[in-house]
This record gives sequence, structure tokens and C-alpha cells, in this order.
Amino acid sequence: MRFTQFFRITARLPRLHAPFIFTVLPAAFACAAAHPGFAAVHAQDEGLALTPPMGWNDWAHYQCGFTAQTILANAHALVERGLAAAGYKIVTIDDCWMQKDRDAKGNLQADRKRFPQGMKPVAQTIHAMGLKFGIYEDAGYATCGGFAGSGEPKDGGNAHFLQDARLFASWGVDYLKLDGCNVYVPQGGNEDAAYRKAYAAEKAALKAVGRRIVFSESAPAYFQGIPAWYDVLSWVRGYGQLWREGDDIATFDAKDPGHQRFSSVLWNYAYNLPLGRFQKPGNWDDPDFIIGGDGGMSLAETRSQLALWSMMSAPLILSSEIGKLTPQSVAILGNRAVIAIDQDPLGKMATLVQRSPAVDVLLKKMTGGDYAVAVLNRGLAPLEVNLRPMDLGFPHNSGCTLDARDLWDGTPLRSASILQAEVASHDTAIWRFHPLRFCGVPARFGTITMVVAGEHHDIEGYSRCLAAPGLVQDCTGTGAETWTIGAHGALKAGGQCLTAAHGKIAMRDCTAGNAQHWIHTLAGNLVGADGKCFTAGSLDSLPQNLSMQLCGRNLPNQIWSLPN
Ligand code: GAL
Repeated sequence: MRFTQFFRITARLPRLHAPFIFTVLPAAFACAAAHPGFAAVHAQDEGLALTPPMGWNDWAHYQCGFTAQTILANAHALVERGLAAAGYKIVTIDDCWMQKDRDAKGNLQADRKRFPQGMKPVAQTIHAMGLKFGIYEDAGYATCGGFAGSGEPKDGGNAHFLQDARLFASWGVDYLKLDGCNVYVPQGGNEDAAYRKAYAAEKAALKAVGRRIVFSESAPAYFQGIPAWYDVLSWVRGYGQLWREGDDIATFDAKDPGHQRFSSVLWNYAYNLPLGRFQKPGNWDDPDFIIGGDGGMSLAETRSQLALWSMMSAPLILSSEIGKLTPQSVAILGNRAVIAIDQDPLGKMATLVQRSPAVDVLLKKMTGGDYAVAVLNRGLAPLEVNLRPMDLGFPHNSGCTLDARDLWDGTPLRSASILQAEVASHDTAIWRFHPLRFCGVPARFGTITMVVAGEHHDIEGYSRCLAAPGLVQDCTGTGAETWTIGAHGALKAGGQCLTAAHGKIAMRDCTAGNAQHWIHTLAGNLVGADGKCFTAGSLDSLPQNLSMQLCGRNLPNQIWSLPN
């Protein structure tokens, strides 16, 4: 397949200097006003997880099959194999570490068989290796595995958030993953409110104990696929530094160690990618563990997971048996040039520049005017990639050259006018580049997508693309699906602008002023000058009729993802 076909771009892109009004509305600050505690809590968090957390967690490989020895052996292997030095430093013990019941004083108790010396010496040993220590708890009355949770008991009584936070601080916990099974919702109560109350209580408890503990929230994962998801995604950023938004990544099964797991990687990537607007330094979308290198993942798939997670600025939390990773897997997972893309201080989510039936092209803006670009081959046939500057949002190709580096083999490309690679099935090419003179200013450029509600657990079924005549369709990768975000929030494709006129939508020359100004809200709405929302028809049928309608609350056919 010649890749150039995918990148015939019809729109000539203007230079963009003006600051975009096209930013996310600060809903979090609106909630700060409504919740006076917010500002103080926020100040205490300053500097926590300014880049995505990196480390290891037992769950996806071992589930409940671990002891203190398992944890320490993996911590040791992180150090021995150079992965800790590459950044993987937080060692977190997931569910099943405790007894079902609390002690007479109401304290959590570490499982005596797994942790015969208790938890503190484990934490001390981990710290002595130069690593950080993380632990799992739950915002409900029981964890997902049925162990004692920190949350409100279902039959009355008090929650244990503060007591548990004190215990964790006394052990030297640096990172808390708070899951969301079994959250007590009073009869007739609202689930979103019950979760919010519990996560806010944990945040307050962490503040009260005064130890700087990175707080990972699983709340949004309990709302995936329903409208309230977007409300939860909007409030978690006020309490913690990262949050799981959805399904678990496939776990390792010792009875069937080779069962393929890449489709699960693609699914978690698919649901994480449209959530870029919720993310910023100190606040990270978390698509779950890195299982690359473990059973059921080829080397190509391992490269893909690390590259995709890094393009998304996702937390990099390995969950495999570190001592058993092959040297090739360790080299991939420890690739510092790729990790640097993940850890870039701007913390941007990648933009989906183009999606065709087998290929995703991602672009990420980074500090110092650098960019990263990745090409994922989801298909079964190998692919030849040829990317030119205009394919990535630069105004022209002629004279524009890039200083680039292929991040897998490290090959530098000086003054390249095209990025080329062969990409094997399920593999991902990734480059970092810096545009040289004559490139112009790149536009905010790429697809505008809509999530299709329902149970689509694959990339193709999950997102649809806005196409230039004014349609929502399956993404095909044509230029009609490639949009440029202009000054004043203009949405341009094929040289024309998306225009709202008398409740209808059309593509018109970009001269219609207000009718072509759009504001993208944190909730994902595209709001026109008349205050109405850009709306698709029923998402079950294609193609879609688009119109301007009153803005509803979290209506799936009014929620759009734009280039970041
Ligand atoms: C799930 C969670 C997993 C793991 C498990 C433990 O809800 O997503 O990552 O923590 O619970 O029971």
C-alpha cells in the first residue's frame, strides 16, 4: 500500500498566529467557586505528577497471585534491568494485599500469609532501592476483590478514609490507587454524587495527613459508556493526578499464556485518545497498564503500546514479570527517546491526524517547538509510510525540511523533506522532529471525531469522523476528514469553513464571521455564536444529518473531540 494516497490534502492551510479562542472552558474553575475547599486542596498538590507517573503494578500479570517476595523481586528487577533508571520507579501493590476485616481499632491489616512481616518493611525495602511505594484501596465499602474498603459501609457507620490515609502515610506510601467498586449509593441517591463525595473525602484525608501522595482515581471507569462519564471526568481533575476512565487492559492468564492481548490494547487506546481536553500537567487520563513484553504481546505490539501511550502522555505503569521480560522487550520498554515523548512537560494528548481502515497517524506538540509523529499499522499487511510536512499540518511542503529521528533505531535524518518507514503489521513507527526554516507555523490540524455510544469495543466501531460536506461517517482517512482549527475557532476543511446558518450546517467560504466561530467546551460541545450546539442525528444511522440544536447535558451526539 502506498501511503501517500492517505495524505492528499485538499485544504491549503493559512498561517496561524492569533491565539485560539478555541480553548476548553474552565469548568474546573467554575467548580472551584462552588466548592471552596478546592483551591486550598489544589495548592497542596502543586508539583505532584507534573509528568505522567511511571512504575510497575502487579495486577495485570499476577492478579491475586502474589506475596511480598513477588513485589520485591519485581522491584529489584526494575533496578537491575535499568528500567527504574529509565523512569519506572513507583512500585504499587494492587488488590488482595489485605485481610477481609479490619482489626479491633478499625485499622486495615496486611494479609499475614502474603506479608508475614507486615507492610512497612516492604515499603522500606522499596524505598531503599531508590523507588517509590504505591498501594491500592477502594472508595467503596469493599475492594473489587471483596477486601475492606475505605468507603462508607453499606449498613451505616463511618467511612475510613482518614484512618486509612494515616496508616498509608505511616508506611511511607507515595502513590494511592483508589478503585471504585462497591461505592455505597443511598436509596434514591445519585451515583455520580456518591462517587464524588467518596473521592473528595479521600482527597481531604490525603491533605490532612500531609504526605505528598499521588492520587489515582478509578471513578470514571464506573461510568464509561453512559452520559455521566463526562461529568465524572470533569470533577476527578479537582482531586487527583490521574484517573482510569474505562475497561481494564486484558490480564495475563498463566493457563493460556499466549492468548492475544493486543485487541485490548487497541480498545484502551481507542477510548483514551478522544479525552485530550481533560488532560494537562498534573492531571492525566490513564488507559491502564503497559502489558507490552508480557504473554500475548509480540515485539511489534510492545513497540505499539509504548509508542501509543507515550504519544498520549499516558502513565507508563508496567504490569508484567519484569525478571522474565526478554532483552528485546526491556530495550523497547526502556527506550529513553520514546519515554521522553511521554514525559514531555507540555503533557499534550496526541492528535489523531488521520484514521483509515488500517492506519492511525498521530501528532503531538512538544516543548521547544519539537513534535512527535507516530504511525500505527492496525492492519495485517505491512505498510510503507511517506509523510510530508503538509500531512502534519504545515502550510506547505516546498522548502520545509525537518530534523528528525526514528526513535526505534535512533537513525537521525538531517533536513528531511519526507519521513519514510516500513511499518509491519501491529507495529508503530515513531519519530521526533524539529521543523527547520521555511516550514511556516503548523496549524492545529487533524480529525474531528465523535464517540458512538454503546458497546463498541474496537476502534472502528467507537469513533466516527466529521467529513467536510457536513457528514459524520466511519473514518476513511480522506482529506475531507482533515480539519484545521483557525483563528476565532473556525473549522476549515477543503478550503471552506463549517458554517451554522438558521439552524442548518453547511460548508461555506470562510467569510461568514460569527456563523463560523465555534467554542469547544470541556464537556465536548461545539457551541456556535447563537449559543446552540453542533449536533449529529441518531448515531445509529449513517450518514448523519447535522444541525444546530439546544445544548443538552452530555448528549452523545453533541460531544466532539478536536485536534489538541
Ligand atoms: C479493577 C481495576 C484493576 C484492579 C482490580 C483489582 O477494578 O480496574 O486495575 O485494580 O480492580 O480487583
